[in-house]
Amino acid sequence: MVEIGTNINLAKDLLLRGELVAIPTETVYGLAANALNEKAVLSIFEVKNRPFFDPLIIHLASIESVKLYADFEDERLLILAKHFWPGPLTLLLPKKNNIPYLITSGLDKVAVRIPNHAISLKLLKSISFPLAAPSANPFGYVSPTEPNHVKKHFGNRLAYILDGGKCEVGIESSIVGIENDTVCIYRLGGLSIEAIEKIIGPVELKINQSSNPKTPGQLKNHYAPKKPLFVGDVKKLKQKHHLKKIDLIYFGQDEIKLDDYTNIYNLSETNDFKEAAVNLFKFLRLADDSDSEIIICSELPDIDLGRAINDRLKRAAR
Ligand code: TXA
Ligand code: MG
Repeated sequence: MVEIGTNINLAKDLLLRGELVAIPTETVYGLAANALNEKAVLSIFEVKNRPFFDPLIIHLASIESVKLYADFEDERLLILAKHFWPGPLTLLLPKKNNIPYLITSGLDKVAVRIPNHAISLKLLKSISFPLAAPSANPFGYVSPTEPNHVKKHFGNRLAYILDGGKCEVGIESSIVGIENDTVCIYRLGGLSIEAIEKIIGPVELKINQSSNPKTPGQLKNHYAPKKPLFVGDVKKLKQKHHLKKIDLIYFGQDEIKLDDYTNIYNLSETNDFKEAAVNLFKFLRLADDSDSEIIICSELPDIDLGRAINDRLKRAAR
């Protein structure tokens, strides 16, 4: 079985040789390869069973190094980068010629971010190429927030898992770009709209659920457990499915009758969105692996990180 460890030099050597290494970030674990080595990048798509129309994010350690591979076409994106990097923000920037179209699925913009995780930043600083890294889960499944999640999915299909403990944010980065001179959000994520608008003013939301999305993170049935998941009014859902064994995921102080459920998980008893984001994927995994038949989940208030969490839940739901 693949080793989980903290050996940065080993991770570096393996990446240099074109191997796949899982890396921790503050959002979720990534399945990383040398972004300039097309053979290595191809194996990311293979191992994840990911369609080639779904482009990859590249990870770097500094704004200077980002400028080697992409242009900050708009002052507002540079302001966001300076403000929130390293952090859960991905920017769509015009790519330079050195970034293979395999990374961008043929698009002229590349998704870039500087992750906020000490061990991965150290690794990124020690190499002279960007790391292409999608979330380290099979395509369409719940993202991994602990090294063991990655190991369970991929076993021996990757060379090493760099151990950075549990992810501190727990949901993927927010994806931001420019369209028609307007700053747009393409994926709700670990950085709230409120935080972004505080720095650069109003932004436009472009997170539709069409069947032909620009960003596959927009696909319905993404982030999905294998079991049926129903999201909405918990009491009504419970009545509708009363003959089934149910795991319940909820948020805050709702009064819940404990004996009605096989397992109950509270995303945050203190209504803390950050805590809820950290717990979300872990609880979806636990509920998926339990002996219940279905999962019911309440929606969170549609503000702050609640919005990104609701977005994940709705896409994962039936
Ligand atoms: O937090 C994160 O962003 C994590 C960590 C590992 O950095 N990565 C992640 O990658 O969530 P992934 O591949 O699971 O999701 C990246 C999303 C995809 O939905 C992809 O379509 C979109 O970013 N994306 C990547 N490049 C793009 C591009 N050039 N234009 C539009 N969307 C892009
Ligand atoms: Mg993903």
